[in-house]
Amino acid sequence: MEPKNHQQSYDRPIEIADKIFWVGFHEKLSNLHCNPYLMVEGDHAVVIDAGSRPDFAVVMMKILQTGIAPEQILALIYHHVDPDLCGSLSNMVDICNNPELIVLSEPNNNMFISYYIEQEKRALLRSIDDHGLVFNFGERTLRFFKTPYAHNAGSFVTYDTRTKTLFSSDLFGSLSRQWELFVELEDACYVCEDYDRCIKRKKYCPLPDIFEFHKKVMPSEKALRHAMDVIKKLDIEMIAPQHGSIFNKKKDIDFIIKKLGSLQGVGIDAF
Ligand SMILES: [Fe+2]
Ligand SMILES: [Fe+2]
Repeated sequence: MEPKNHQQSYDRPIEIADKIFWVGFHEKLSNLHCNPYLMVEGDHAVVIDAGSRPDFAVVMMKILQTGIAPEQILALIYHHVDPDLCGSLSNMVDICNNPELIVLSEPNNNMFISYYIEQEKRALLRSIDDHGLVFNFGERTLRFFKTPYAHNAGSFVTYDTRTKTLFSSDLFGSLSRQWELFVELEDACYVCEDYDRCIKRKKYCPLPDIFEFHKKVMPSEKALRHAMDVIKKLDIEMIAPQHGSIFNKKKDIDFIIKKLGSLQGVGIDAF
């Protein structure tokens, strides 16, 4: 499970798929790496799960490094309501200064997301339901799929139909003790019976941290299983989560969906 070495370039935005940029940073002190993404289409851009308030400066610097100016940002998508992705919302709205800007989320989320911004700016909030669960953005079509209670009532995921990238927010996330932007499993991982004792004798296996994260963050086996039932119907080339690492190997993607769909001891089910 040797990760690809992007270490040298973590100081810069990384294009993970056609015009989709990782605009996060390598957080050495915490195991909770946050991964905001920027999607560019022509002269416009969309930001996905922009990040916390303390992360705002570095995320915005990364966005600028892609060549996109804040006024070119058309939409801010927030998959759920936590401060690690919504904390900088007010800063983002202020700096974007674009009369067309919208903040897009699910109605159950918007009830809480509205508290991140001043009252007079709450009109920017839009519901994915009112958009028919689709956002057309230049030649690009983003489709939204609801994954209720995984882990907020209003949680959903975003699927880019062109690159077949799934932006999964906390789903597929990890409290990575060792982190690389991309993760790749080996065939041996698919049949491994004890992820704490790697049959290949690798020093670090990313799977226990991924399972632990889901057990901690997701409320129940049912919620996680339902989310995987929704996601497994999609033709996915890449999973880009808000924490942990990106999966871009089809076999790994199928494996991890199946594994999380049958994970036991999730949330309240552990008690
Ligand atoms: Fe969360
Ligand atoms: Fe999160």
